[in-house]
Amino acid sequence: MNKIIVAIDGYSSCGKSTIAKALAKYAGYTYVDTGAMYRAIGLYFSKLKDERLELREVDSEKLKELLSQIHIGFIQVDGAQHVTLNGEDVERQIRTLEAGNRASQISQIKEVRAFLVAQQQKMGEAKGIVMDGRDIGTVVFPKAELKLFLTASPEVRAQRRYDELVEKGEHPDFAAVLADVNDRDYRDTHRAESPLRQAEDAIVVDNSHMTREEQMEVIYGLFDKAVNS
Ligand code: DC
Repeated sequence: MNKIIVAIDGYSSCGKSTIAKALAKYAGYTYVDTGAMYRAIGLYFSKLKDERLELREVDSEKLKELLSQIHIGFIQVDGAQHVTLNGEDVERQIRTLEAGNRASQISQIKEVRAFLVAQQQKMGEAKGIVMDGRDIGTVVFPKAELKLFLTASPEVRAQRRYDELVEKGEHPDFAAVLADVNDRDYRDTHRAESPLRQAEDAIVVDNSHMTREEQMEVIYGLFDKAVNS
Protein backbone atom coordinates (compact mmCIF):
# COMPACT_ATOMS: atom_id res chain seq x y z
CA MET A 1 0.00 0.00 0.00
CA ASN A 2 1.02 3.59 -0.62
CA LYS A 3 3.11 4.82 2.35
CA ILE A 4 2.83 8.41 3.43
CA ILE A 5 4.30 10.88 5.92
CA VAL A 6 1.97 12.19 8.61
CA ALA A 7 3.08 15.47 10.21
CA ILE A 8 1.37 16.42 13.47
CA ASP A 9 2.03 19.84 14.95
CA GLY A 10 0.42 21.82 17.71
CA TYR A 11 0.71 23.44 21.10
CA SER A 12 2.19 21.70 24.12
CA SER A 13 -0.09 19.32 26.03
CA CYS A 14 -2.80 19.12 23.40
CA GLY A 15 -2.48 15.36 23.18
CA LYS A 16 -0.24 15.24 20.10
CA SER A 17 1.83 12.28 21.23
CA THR A 18 -1.17 10.18 22.33
CA ILE A 19 -2.82 10.78 18.98
CA ALA A 20 0.37 10.26 16.99
CA LYS A 21 1.09 6.96 18.78
CA ALA A 22 -2.43 5.67 18.22
CA LEU A 23 -2.31 6.66 14.54
CA ALA A 24 1.11 5.02 14.07
CA LYS A 25 -0.28 1.80 15.55
CA TYR A 26 -3.39 1.96 13.36
CA ALA A 27 -1.27 2.55 10.25
CA GLY A 28 1.58 0.17 11.16
CA TYR A 29 3.94 3.17 10.88
CA THR A 30 6.96 4.32 12.92
CA TYR A 31 6.22 7.00 15.49
CA VAL A 32 8.77 9.76 16.15
CA ASP A 33 8.34 12.16 19.08
CA THR A 34 10.53 15.12 18.11
CA GLY A 35 9.80 16.94 21.40
CA ALA A 36 11.65 14.10 23.15
CA MET A 37 14.68 14.86 20.97
CA TYR A 38 14.69 18.54 22.02
CA ARG A 39 14.18 17.48 25.63
CA ALA A 40 17.17 15.10 25.42
CA ILE A 41 19.41 17.88 24.08
CA GLY A 42 18.21 20.19 26.86
CA LEU A 43 19.14 17.49 29.36
CA TYR A 44 22.59 17.03 27.83
CA PHE A 45 23.28 20.77 28.00
CA SER A 46 22.03 21.01 31.59
CA LYS A 47 24.42 18.20 32.55
CA LEU A 48 27.31 20.19 31.07
CA LYS A 49 26.42 22.92 33.55
CA ASP A 50 27.73 25.51 31.14
CA GLU A 51 25.79 28.67 31.85
CA ARG A 52 26.98 30.28 28.66
CA LEU A 53 24.72 27.84 26.81
CA GLU A 54 21.70 29.26 28.60
CA LEU A 55 22.79 32.71 27.55
CA ARG A 56 23.47 31.53 24.03
CA GLU A 57 26.90 33.07 24.10
CA VAL A 58 28.65 29.99 22.83
CA ASP A 59 29.82 30.45 19.27
CA SER A 60 28.37 28.43 16.45
CA GLU A 61 31.44 26.23 15.93
CA LYS A 62 31.63 25.22 19.60
CA LEU A 63 27.91 24.52 19.60
CA LYS A 64 28.24 22.27 16.54
CA GLU A 65 31.12 20.46 18.19
CA LEU A 66 29.02 19.87 21.31
CA LEU A 67 26.09 18.67 19.22
CA SER A 68 28.30 16.23 17.32
CA GLN A 69 28.88 14.43 20.62
CA ILE A 70 25.18 13.80 21.11
CA HIS A 71 23.49 10.65 19.90
CA ILE A 72 19.76 10.42 20.33
CA GLY A 73 17.92 7.17 19.79
CA PHE A 74 14.60 5.49 20.50
CA ILE A 75 14.10 2.10 22.13
CA GLN A 76 11.05 0.05 23.06
CA VAL A 77 10.60 -0.71 26.77
CA ASP A 78 7.58 -2.83 27.76
CA GLY A 79 5.77 -1.70 24.62
CA ALA A 80 6.48 2.01 25.21
CA GLN A 81 8.91 4.20 23.32
CA HIS A 82 11.78 5.62 25.39
CA VAL A 83 14.37 8.12 24.26
CA THR A 84 18.08 7.43 24.74
CA LEU A 85 20.87 9.98 25.12
CA ASN A 86 24.27 8.56 24.21
CA GLY A 87 22.94 5.10 24.96
CA GLU A 88 21.32 5.93 28.32
CA ASP A 89 17.55 5.63 28.74
CA VAL A 90 16.58 9.17 29.85
CA GLU A 91 12.81 8.85 29.42
CA ARG A 92 11.99 9.66 33.06
CA GLN A 93 14.45 12.54 33.26
CA ILE A 94 13.05 14.31 30.21
CA ARG A 95 9.38 14.21 31.24
CA THR A 96 9.46 16.80 34.03
CA LEU A 97 8.08 20.33 33.76
CA GLU A 98 11.63 21.65 34.05
CA ALA A 99 12.87 19.47 31.20
CA GLY A 100 10.01 20.74 29.04
CA ASN A 101 10.95 24.33 29.72
CA ARG A 102 14.61 23.65 29.06
CA ALA A 103 13.65 22.03 25.75
CA SER A 104 11.57 25.06 24.83
CA GLN A 105 14.59 27.31 25.58
CA ILE A 106 17.21 25.34 23.66
CA SER A 107 14.83 24.78 20.74
CA GLN A 108 15.32 28.47 19.95
CA ILE A 109 18.95 27.85 19.00
CA LYS A 110 19.43 27.68 15.24
CA GLU A 111 22.21 25.06 15.33
CA VAL A 112 20.15 22.77 17.57
CA ARG A 113 17.23 22.92 15.15
CA ALA A 114 19.42 22.25 12.11
CA PHE A 115 21.01 19.27 13.88
CA LEU A 116 17.67 17.68 14.76
CA VAL A 117 15.82 18.55 11.56
CA ALA A 118 18.49 16.72 9.51
CA GLN A 119 18.05 13.59 11.65
CA GLN A 120 14.27 13.79 11.46
CA GLN A 121 14.32 14.12 7.66
CA LYS A 122 16.51 11.03 7.45
CA MET A 123 14.05 9.09 9.61
CA GLY A 124 11.30 9.89 7.11
CA GLU A 125 13.19 8.94 3.95
CA ALA A 126 11.34 5.65 3.58
CA LYS A 127 7.99 7.29 4.53
CA GLY A 128 5.59 5.22 6.67
CA ILE A 129 6.13 7.62 9.56
CA VAL A 130 4.03 9.64 11.99
CA MET A 131 6.06 12.50 13.43
CA ASP A 132 4.87 15.03 15.96
CA GLY A 133 6.34 18.37 17.00
CA ARG A 134 6.08 22.07 16.24
CA ASP A 135 7.65 22.45 12.78
CA ILE A 136 7.01 19.10 11.14
CA GLY A 137 4.50 20.25 8.53
CA THR A 138 6.25 23.59 7.94
CA VAL A 139 10.00 22.77 8.00
CA VAL A 140 10.82 19.08 8.43
CA PHE A 141 8.33 17.67 5.91
CA PRO A 142 6.71 20.55 4.04
CA LYS A 143 5.52 18.01 1.45
CA ALA A 144 3.96 15.58 3.95
CA GLU A 145 0.86 13.97 2.48
CA LEU A 146 -1.16 14.53 5.66
CA LYS A 147 -0.65 17.47 8.00
CA LEU A 148 -2.61 17.85 11.20
CA PHE A 149 -2.55 20.87 13.47
CA LEU A 150 -3.88 20.06 16.92
CA THR A 151 -5.15 22.60 19.34
CA ALA A 152 -7.13 22.92 22.59
CA SER A 153 -7.74 25.82 24.96
CA PRO A 154 -4.90 26.69 27.39
CA GLU A 155 -7.13 25.77 30.38
CA VAL A 156 -7.95 22.33 28.99
CA ARG A 157 -4.26 21.71 28.21
CA ALA A 158 -3.15 22.90 31.67
CA GLN A 159 -5.67 20.54 33.30
CA ARG A 160 -4.33 17.62 31.24
CA ARG A 161 -0.75 18.43 32.14
CA TYR A 162 -1.72 18.87 35.82
CA ASP A 163 -3.38 15.43 35.83
CA GLU A 164 -0.32 13.84 34.20
CA LEU A 165 2.03 15.35 36.79
CA VAL A 166 -0.19 14.22 39.67
CA GLU A 167 -0.21 10.73 38.20
CA LYS A 168 3.60 10.79 38.23
CA GLY A 169 3.58 11.59 41.95
CA GLU A 170 4.39 15.30 41.58
CA HIS A 171 2.48 18.01 43.51
CA PRO A 172 1.90 20.81 40.99
CA ASP A 173 0.05 24.07 41.54
CA PHE A 174 -2.65 24.52 38.88
CA ALA A 175 -2.07 28.27 38.47
CA ALA A 176 1.65 27.63 37.94
CA VAL A 177 0.92 24.90 35.37
CA LEU A 178 -1.45 27.24 33.48
CA ALA A 179 1.13 30.06 33.55
CA ASP A 180 3.70 27.61 32.24
CA VAL A 181 1.40 26.54 29.35
CA ASN A 182 0.91 30.20 28.39
CA ASP A 183 4.65 30.99 28.63
CA ARG A 184 5.55 27.96 26.55
CA ASP A 185 2.94 28.85 23.91
CA TYR A 186 4.37 32.34 23.71
CA ARG A 187 7.96 31.13 23.33
CA ASP A 188 7.05 28.40 20.83
CA THR A 189 5.08 30.81 18.62
CA HIS A 190 7.36 33.86 18.88
CA ARG A 191 10.85 32.46 18.49
CA ALA A 192 12.86 33.60 15.47
CA GLU A 193 13.77 30.06 14.36
CA SER A 194 10.90 27.98 12.92
CA PRO A 195 8.16 29.25 15.24
CA LEU A 196 5.13 27.05 15.77
CA ARG A 197 2.60 27.94 13.13
CA GLN A 198 -0.03 26.14 11.18
CA ALA A 199 1.00 25.04 7.70
CA GLU A 200 -1.37 26.44 5.09
CA ASP A 201 -2.44 22.96 4.03
CA ALA A 202 -2.77 21.55 7.57
CA ILE A 203 -6.11 20.30 8.86
CA VAL A 204 -6.94 21.85 12.24
CA VAL A 205 -8.34 19.59 14.94
CA ASP A 206 -9.50 21.43 18.08
CA ASN A 207 -9.91 18.72 20.68
CA SER A 208 -11.00 20.89 23.65
CA HIS A 209 -14.40 19.24 23.68
CA MET A 210 -13.73 15.92 21.98
CA THR A 211 -13.24 12.53 23.60
CA ARG A 212 -10.21 10.57 22.56
CA GLU A 213 -12.47 8.16 20.61
CA GLU A 214 -14.15 11.02 18.73
CA GLN A 215 -10.76 12.47 17.80
CA MET A 216 -9.35 9.16 16.66
CA GLU A 217 -12.38 8.48 14.49
CA VAL A 218 -11.82 11.81 12.71
CA ILE A 219 -8.07 11.26 12.39
CA TYR A 220 -8.26 7.65 11.17
CA GLY A 221 -10.74 8.87 8.55
CA LEU A 222 -8.36 11.61 7.40
CA PHE A 223 -5.50 9.11 7.25
CA ASP A 224 -7.48 6.58 5.19
CA LYS A 225 -8.45 9.32 2.76
CA ALA A 226 -4.84 10.57 2.45
CA VAL A 227 -3.47 7.07 1.85
CA ASN A 228 -6.02 6.33 -0.84
CA SER A 229 -5.75 9.62 -2.70
O1 DC B 1 6.28 18.40 22.59
P1 DC B 1 7.14 18.65 23.83
O2 DC B 1 6.40 19.35 24.95
O3 DC B 1 7.82 17.41 24.31
O4 DC B 1 8.29 19.67 23.32
C1 DC B 1 9.18 20.28 24.20
C2 DC B 1 9.69 21.58 23.59
O5 DC B 1 10.52 21.28 22.46
C3 DC B 1 8.64 22.54 23.08
O6 DC B 1 8.27 23.52 24.03
C4 DC B 1 9.25 23.19 21.87
C5 DC B 1 10.32 22.25 21.43
N1 DC B 1 10.04 21.55 20.17
C6 DC B 1 10.34 22.23 19.01
O7 DC B 1 10.78 23.38 19.06
N2 DC B 1 10.17 21.62 17.81
C7 DC B 1 9.68 20.37 17.73
N3 DC B 1 9.55 19.80 16.53
C8 DC B 1 9.34 19.68 18.92
C9 DC B 1 9.51 20.31 20.12
